[in-house]
Amino acid sequence: MLKSTADRYGTVAISIHWLSAVLILALLGSGFRAASTIDAAAKAEILRFHVPLAIVVLLLTALRIVWWWRFDLRPAAAQGSPRWQERAARVVHVAFYIVILGMVASGIGLMILSGAGPIVFGESAATLPDFTDYPPRVPHGGGARLLVALLVLHTGAALYHQFVQRDGLLRRMWYGR
Ligand code: HEM
Repeated sequence: MLKSTADRYGTVAISIHWLSAVLILALLGSGFRAASTIDAAAKAEILRFHVPLAIVVLLLTALRIVWWWRFDLRPAAAQGSPRWQERAARVVHVAFYIVILGMVASGIGLMILSGAGPIVFGESAATLPDFTDYPPRVPHGGGARLLVALLVLHTGAALYHQFVQRDGLLRRMWYGR
């Protein structure tokens, strides 16, 4: 079923969720790798992967917002969870949207202000700028660490439901019945 029901997610929401998860892990890996690479050519090569991937994540996030806003309703909260856990889950989910959109905005700002776009994508032979000279580098680095913290909380909560509560919550975020 494309849409979600009261007790499970639909295939559109499931596909957006897992595709975004894989792409965001790849973005964190490539971003930290780029930041610790000194060689300009190697750094540019990593960014040729990092930037287009981030644009795909932006499109998926926009699709996710439109999907929930116009077309689908979330399943009910996990049965038997205390109110504070429901609230915490909500806060973490909203924080994901804010941090992901903030990462994309600061990344685009960084590329525009530093003029690195044409260098990364091979239209200019100039040397790559030092990104730490530009203000959006600060929220981009901070947002990356916040995103890692959110992922730890989110994954930890899912594993807690799966293995401690044993309520099979993970199953409703996967395909099938
Ligand atoms: C969800 C989206 C994004 C994520 C999760 C992400 C992740 C990261 C991470 C983890 C770093 C390393 C931060 C550090 O070590 O302090 C980084 C650096 C960077 N990212 Fe992103 N990024 C995203 C979007 C973008 C976009 C849209 C652009 C450009 C249009 C971009 C361009 C850069 C650049 C230029 C660096 C700096 C590399 C350096 O300092 O050498 N990022 N990113």
